[in-house]
Amino acid sequence: MRGEHPKHKLTPMACPRELADVDLFGPGAQEHWYEAYPILHKAAPVLVLRGAGPDGASDVFVLSSYADIERVVKDPERFKPVMSQLVEALQAQLDRGERQPRDPARFDLALDSVRTLRPTIELWRAHRQELTDPWVGPGARRHTRMITRVADELIDRWIARGTGDGGGTVEFIAEFARPLPQMVMGGVLGFPDGDLPRLADWGSALVMQYVHGRGPLNLLSEEQAVQQAQRLEGFAEYLAEQVASKRRDPQDDMISALTQTHYQALDRRLTDEEVYGIVYFMVLGGLETTQYALEAQAQLLCEYPALFSRLRSNPGEVRAFIEEAMRLRAPTQGLSTRITTRDEEFQGVHVPAGSVLHIRFGAGNVDPRQYASPYQLDLQRKSLGNHLTFSQGPRTCPGAGISRLEQTIAWERLCTRLASLKYAPGNTFEHQPGVMLGTLALSLCFTRPAGRAR
Ligand code: HEM
Repeated sequence: MRGEHPKHKLTPMACPRELADVDLFGPGAQEHWYEAYPILHKAAPVLVLRGAGPDGASDVFVLSSYADIERVVKDPERFKPVMSQLVEALQAQLDRGERQPRDPARFDLALDSVRTLRPTIELWRAHRQELTDPWVGPGARRHTRMITRVADELIDRWIARGTGDGGGTVEFIAEFARPLPQMVMGGVLGFPDGDLPRLADWGSALVMQYVHGRGPLNLLSEEQAVQQAQRLEGFAEYLAEQVASKRRDPQDDMISALTQTHYQALDRRLTDEEVYGIVYFMVLGGLETTQYALEAQAQLLCEYPALFSRLRSNPGEVRAFIEEAMRLRAPTQGLSTRITTRDEEFQGVHVPAGSVLHIRFGAGNVDPRQYASPYQLDLQRKSLGNHLTFSQGPRTCPGAGISRLEQTIAWERLCTRLASLKYAPGNTFEHQPGVMLGTLALSLCFTRPAGRAR
């Protein structure tokens, strides 16, 4: 598997053979990321993108070594998250009386909740522990039955398909990997089932930067930004309605809990605006990421033909499988979300204070200095969960708990209810644009266990 991505058709970008060919952000780059990473590890673990910074003059530094990425994400004081920088700028504008706290632009609404709830790293931690952990972190276990029901409901829709040989075909993304996290997050937040299509559309509008944004800074064109705003129409109003109704009449869901809680860290209740901000981030982070993990896992199962039977016989190995799969095919390949607060040096490369770092989780996960045979799927690997896919340190992904649970239950149910899974003919394996590792479509053939019609 080293450096190979089987069955990919070539796109406008040719496969890189040497450092000069490597471009992680150009059209079609997604098809060759895993051929670019061994070149980067060998020739440029710190890749300098000249003039790619926000001012058009400064450089962006792409980090692909596991050790460098770990160092950056674990030290938010020295390597400041862009979000903290934006919040500080917003606070300074407010202090100077130059801005109203609630700008109607959607991201400002979310940013404002970070400004009031998470201005320091201690409050960032408290936010996670008190507000999100009980629902989408370690406390996600409370959703086990709901997630199992959702997975089974989705499988029910296509498992009886096909005739004669006991199997059929499924478009795995549209019929399983995409709706599963949408339905689960809708349930966690407490949105009515009938609103899920709207939620899904808002979620995909929120992630537009990461799918349609250009270059290492994920910049949308003006036209795309207008489209995004149009697609988000109604979202703020919908959130306001949901929050008001759940404040009045709380149910057993995350939004209701947020409206009722006495937040110990600040010794007060949350404002409506703060609840909108938290939900905004749940919708932004909680839908597509897990979809990409599930679709990459389906592809690995097809590429390692004995694996599906192995997991069927040993369901206890599903958890190891999802961790190895997330290491090998990280959904969030990289983010340009850290700024150096002082002059730094990485691998002998000078990085001035104020530089944007693009932290390339997908590459760090296959760094040969961290992992033996890094491109090999190995369920016996030590410390399986120590990959960079959810980042690490105090700003690590708050939704890792629920995502891991969704993936584990999904494969436990699929391995129980199907006898085999393989690629159907005709897949192109073409990836969507942007910085997430997502396949556009994935058609799979499945069989059912003998004697089981469903
Ligand atoms: C396989 C699925 C997922 C992957 C690969 C993933 C990956 C990441 C990564 C790499 C970060 C950046 C952390 C940093 O800057 O150090 C992040 C942040 C975040 N993720 Fe996830 N994530 C996933 C699922 C989820 C889910 C299911 C949710 C919500 C339930 C979620 C919510 C968030 C939020 C809100 C943030 C921003 C940080 C914050 O506000 O505290 N993610 N995620």
